[in-house]
Amino acid sequence: DWTPDIFVDATVSDLKDQLGDDQVVLGLSGGVDSSVAAMLIHHAIGKNLHCIFVDNGLLRKNEFSDVLKSYEGMGLNVKGVNAAKEFYKALEGLTDPEDKRKAIGRVFIEIFDAEAKKIKNVKWLGQGTIYPDVIESVSVNGPSVTIKSHHNVGGLPAKMNLKVVEPLNTLFKDEVRRVGRSLDIDEKILGRHPFPGPGLGIRILGDITAEKVEILQEVDHIFINGLKDKGLYNDVWQAGAMLLPIQSVGVMGDERTYERVVALRAVSSVDGMTADWCHLPYDFLADISNQIINKVKGVNRVVYDISSKPPATIEWE
Ligand code: XMP
Repeated sequence: DWTPDIFVDATVSDLKDQLGDDQVVLGLSGGVDSSVAAMLIHHAIGKNLHCIFVDNGLLRKNEFSDVLKSYEGMGLNVKGVNAAKEFYKALEGLTDPEDKRKAIGRVFIEIFDAEAKKIKNVKWLGQGTIYPDVIESVSVNGPSVTIKSHHNVGGLPAKMNLKVVEPLNTLFKDEVRRVGRSLDIDEKILGRHPFPGPGLGIRILGDITAEKVEILQEVDHIFINGLKDKGLYNDVWQAGAMLLPIQSVGVMGDERTYERVVALRAVSSVDGMTADWCHLPYDFLADISNQIINKVKGVNRVVYDISSKPPATIEWE
């Protein structure tokens, strides 16, 4: 029978054999998978694991500093790299979602590669790949043709000439969470909603600017905090906000205003392949909408997405 404790013991012991005294580099994202992978490798080789956490400027509000703190608290050897400017520069003027993904992926690889080169004798790249990722990248379209550039870092190992170590590649998400609990990882990290690699970059429709990111971070923060405060966060599989590339009319005093529209999305799902929109309480939505419009300058309209997947996807891109 599979149990997380047995998995941890067996995997840590295998990793010790496999990695010996080698140096390993791993990119942390703040998500469940990379965090659990890092802790397993950390248990096997300690300080020989070098973690890198890149701020791409497209994370949630306060995410970079909060998550960095919890990683340090877990004893990980982690370097935070603030690269928001580089990402914004590469994204300037791009509106096509795949172009944006590619730009984000490319800059990530550049930054990560430059940081990894500072580590002496690094031989391995650790990754939090889980079983569904393995399946997805050899999708029905055949090997190497993915539905979209999901993980954004496919070219990394070859470019860096590193061997890959993926201790979670036989596990499903719920098993990864159980392994994480067995390793005593903070419930705040384990219980997090999935968050896409390109982050808010695929939730800002059209071109991305620092100003738009800031607006969306505020909106998202109000929504996610509200879900947590009302005890709804754990009933939702994934939630977030989209900044739409349109303005709509509003009134302020006796003036007409043209300001931004945001869409809130919350879904229930098992694996993200199909999803239903969450029937969040009207009172809750009313309160969140009021807070957003009152507190976030430049937004005068909030809509709630009531589409299921398929045919609508979770992200709006
Ligand atoms: P969609 O929008 O396709 O999303 O219904 C399904 C799940 O995948 C996430 N997603 C991404 N994750 N890089 C990622 O790492 C991406 O480019 C990307 N696009 C979508 C999305 O957040 C949802 O959980």
